[in-house]
Amino acid sequence: MCGIVGYVGHQAAGPILLEGLQRLEYRGYDSSGIAVLDHDGALSVMKREGKLRDLQAAIERMPGGATGIGHTRWATHGQPSDRNAHPHASSSGDVIVVQNGIVENYRELKAELQERLDAEGRSWQSDTDTEVIPELISRELAAGKSFGDALASAIGRLRGANAIAAVHRGSPNRIYAARKGSAGGIVIGYGDGEMFVASDLPALLPHTTSVYHLEDGEIAAIDPESVTIRGQGGTQFQPEPTQVDLDPVAIARGPFRHFMLKEIHEQPRALSDTIRGRARLEPASALPDDLDLPTETLASIERVLVIGMGTSLHAAMIGRWWIEQIAGIPADFDNASEFRFRAPLLGPSTLVVAVTQSGETIDTLGAMNHVRDRWGAPQVVITNVDGSEATRQADTSIIIRCGPEVGVASTKTFVGSLAALYLLACRIGHAQGRLSTEALSKRLEQLLTAPSLLERGIGQAARCAQIAQLFGAASNFLVLGRGIEYPLAMEAALKCKEISYVHAEGYAAGEMKHGPIALLDQGFPVIALAPRGPLFDKMTSTIQQVRARRAPVIAVGDEGDAELAELVDHFIAVPPAPPLLTPFSLTPVVQLLAYQLALTRGLDIDQPRNLAKTVTVE
Ligand code: AGP
Repeated sequence: MCGIVGYVGHQAAGPILLEGLQRLEYRGYDSSGIAVLDHDGALSVMKREGKLRDLQAAIERMPGGATGIGHTRWATHGQPSDRNAHPHASSSGDVIVVQNGIVENYRELKAELQERLDAEGRSWQSDTDTEVIPELISRELAAGKSFGDALASAIGRLRGANAIAAVHRGSPNRIYAARKGSAGGIVIGYGDGEMFVASDLPALLPHTTSVYHLEDGEIAAIDPESVTIRGQGGTQFQPEPTQVDLDPVAIARGPFRHFMLKEIHEQPRALSDTIRGRARLEPASALPDDLDLPTETLASIERVLVIGMGTSLHAAMIGRWWIEQIAGIPADFDNASEFRFRAPLLGPSTLVVAVTQSGETIDTLGAMNHVRDRWGAPQVVITNVDGSEATRQADTSIIIRCGPEVGVASTKTFVGSLAALYLLACRIGHAQGRLSTEALSKRLEQLLTAPSLLERGIGQAARCAQIAQLFGAASNFLVLGRGIEYPLAMEAALKCKEISYVHAEGYAAGEMKHGPIALLDQGFPVIALAPRGPLFDKMTSTIQQVRARRAPVIAVGDEGDAELAELVDHFIAVPPAPPLLTPFSLTPVVQLLAYQLALTRGLDIDQPRNLAKTVTVE
């Protein structure tokens, strides 16, 4: 949540910061701002409530300067407003800070600093927790410390996970960056006589692929030609940058109207990239090179727990299904934010699988921490971001290689995570001797058809647009699924809520009679996920019950299923898939329905209100 950028070098900082913020806007877009310093220490700060375009015009009138920091905000403390937008300054005006995270003890720190502010006849300029940071630094400077020491002392006083960038009037050719805990990353990009800072790689890629990821507890002093890190314990060193292998084209929208649409269309390619080299047929093996866990560990696992949040939780629910069905061992899923506050009983023979596309979701990281500290159980993370905090915490990682996902709604990383879970289920089943080599080979062959299932599902875009036109004014939807389609019903409802702002509930179809049916009437459309499979007859009984209440039914079923098409009001055909692979044929349709509904309603699809791509605060 929140995006941070920084620049120090020989070019005008303003446009570079603005462009970086545009690439990070998916992390928050309640307000934005930048601060620029010129060589003589003259400082200009510009900030605006609302989208970045509202800041853009104002920046054109800003004085120049080759050093600066910027921020795009997802509000936590203090509502979105010019006043609460970052950057925030010390009351003396010489220390400027942008922050991602939460200062959990800000009330206590504010109270402590209040007396001095009162004595000086000054007052707080915002309602944020952030403002205590420049004030603390300023106090330490006044006590005679160097800026680096003052920043280190101030950070030492903060509770909670925080990533910070700062500039100081007294050091006009330097920016500072610091990271404490898991509040999203800070990456330093190395240019030619210039340096860049950002919360995430997409903001750096147009400038450089030579980067250093700040570790927890590190503070960087960044000059145009060099970076000096102060590590935990005060040691100082100059880090070695590494090269990242990411194509800047991957973060361009291309001919698509929205990133979400682009990313839906990228799914067949993304899934192929996830499984490349990991679904070998001769001899059959799943994930032959990825899992850095001894085969004995995999062979001795007695249970698997899959955790995640949001869309990743829905992937976890489907993963649970596959682990039971394919690997043949007990499996559960859990909402990561709830898991650690219960008293879960794991033991060392439980394998914990964390699903998190960003690898930075604070709830999931919290659950992983709990697993490590309390149980010492082995942990695998399934993530799209190599080097993310989750990969550092887990024993081993499966990187899904989907390429950057920019749309706030997760799409291609959902199918990438699913593919990784399917492969993991195959690998565990084989290691345990419950899945013969022949059966493994069959499972993998089926998985290899998934890109084409996705492709054909995407082919239903026009039909989804027609349905969205018909139901664009509906205020509610019930989405029903059974078995492996139940988590997909939940995913469909989540997508409707987050980008179309439609109230939608995903339910296990069998549950409908136990309460939700009371909602139904002619004005309450029901989406039924009903491909042919072992539970199809039960699903059609549910559809009959819905129709008896006169609620319109939109069914998503197998191509050529005339009987189902006849039974319902509207039918969307998907390719018939093997029973365990229906998530791949249905996913594009549930995504496209939500996308088209949002389009019909004229909503901001890539930046839905109140959301941020990566949730790094609790
Ligand atoms: C999905 O469309 C949402 N943006 C959200 O639910 C997301 O899946 C969730 O925040 C988890 O994110 P992660 O996969 O990065 O951990």
